[in-house]
Amino acid sequence: MVTRRRLLAAAAATTAALSACDPDGGATQSGGTAPPLDPSSWPSVREQFALAPGVVNMALFAFASHPATVRAAIEKHRAGLDADPYGFLHANEPALERAVADAAAAYLRTGREQIAFTDSTTMGLGLLYSGLRLRPGDEVLATEHDFYATHEALRLRGERDGTTFRKVRLYDEPESAAAEEMVRRLRAAVGARTRVVAVTWVHSGTGVKLPIRAIADALAEVNRGRAEADRLLLCVDGVHGFAVEDPTPDALGCDFLISGCHKWLFGPRGTGLIWGRAEAWRRFTPVIPTFTGEPDGAPGPAATPGGYHSFEHRWALAEAFTMRTAIGATRVAERTRGLVSALKDGLARMSKVRVRTPRSPEVSSGIVCCEVEGYGAAEAVAQLRGSKILASATPYATPYLRFGPTALNDESEVEATLRAVRAL
Ligand SMILES: Cc1ncc(COP(=O)(O)O)c(C=O)c1O
Repeated sequence: MVTRRRLLAAAAATTAALSACDPDGGATQSGGTAPPLDPSSWPSVREQFALAPGVVNMALFAFASHPATVRAAIEKHRAGLDADPYGFLHANEPALERAVADAAAAYLRTGREQIAFTDSTTMGLGLLYSGLRLRPGDEVLATEHDFYATHEALRLRGERDGTTFRKVRLYDEPESAAAEEMVRRLRAAVGARTRVVAVTWVHSGTGVKLPIRAIADALAEVNRGRAEADRLLLCVDGVHGFAVEDPTPDALGCDFLISGCHKWLFGPRGTGLIWGRAEAWRRFTPVIPTFTGEPDGAPGPAATPGGYHSFEHRWALAEAFTMRTAIGATRVAERTRGLVSALKDGLARMSKVRVRTPRSPEVSSGIVCCEVEGYGAAEAVAQLRGSKILASATPYATPYLRFGPTALNDESEVEATLRAVRAL
């Protein structure tokens, strides 16, 4: 069981790793300045970030650093808000909100009315699993491998409304997780009262990636025999696949995709989204009143929580999506895959290391989990920090040493990481 205490302990280990590396902050740039972006050049992409120099950061996927255009947008919006908060908000909000929705929709290749904006994955999961229309006795089928926020949102829903949830185990040893078997186990666990299947695209505790398209196809077969109101909805916590893998939500085949934008996308901290299929949104009732001025009937805006927000961060999401679209989702996916393969291959060659994430990109993505003989995960994280390699420990019942090479890392950093692990 993941307890809140475990979660906080693992988070604290990661935080300590980050803060101990460069007490002065070590920022290479301040504000939003950086050389102009050449989206075809990885060094140029990397230059857009004010990362501490002299360290290899393999934990950037967990909480984003902002690129220069995002920093500049935040500063610009903040200056306007500081000068005249109410006036600036009302003069600019409609256009800036629209720019965010358009940039997100262009990246996701979807309609902007299908997207709700949130503060985080956790908020998205909480809103979705609170707002889906379910009756007492309806069941949500989750898995043993989801993040705490999915399970807790479902538990709370059960307390309020008498829905139930069950967790299915999709694999026993993560490194041998197989696509077909995961689909089979999930499909076999669907019962007559199951209305929602809640899964996680890439498991942050093991690095296993689910074959979402194949799961969607298997559930579509079940749905063929069901009335519209009883149709299974496939809801995916997509945070560790979003902006590292390239399929659009439509191509994935799910009904809802929930993600933070402050992880692999490098969007503003405190941003996230829920994407939903038009028919799926019809089975959702908003939880927090919206303030959006969108026309009635646009489900994403209606599901976007209203209230005054940290608008400078929310509005700068447009720049994050625009930058990522310019780089290209497929190039990011290929680049990450190359770094991940090199890291896994190198780790697998060390007899004291057991790589727990599968080798095949069919069932793995950007997260690489492993165990080092003689070291607990938090201890390994602390030792690596001494070699200026920033990793994290998984916040789950069995903690693993975890790396997450992103498109900001390069081959020499993978090599440095391997040298440091070898030296443990
Ligand atoms: C699978 C998964 N879902 C959700 C979260 C929470 O994301 P957020 O910080 O955007 O709420 C995490 C980790 O932070 C995670 O690993």
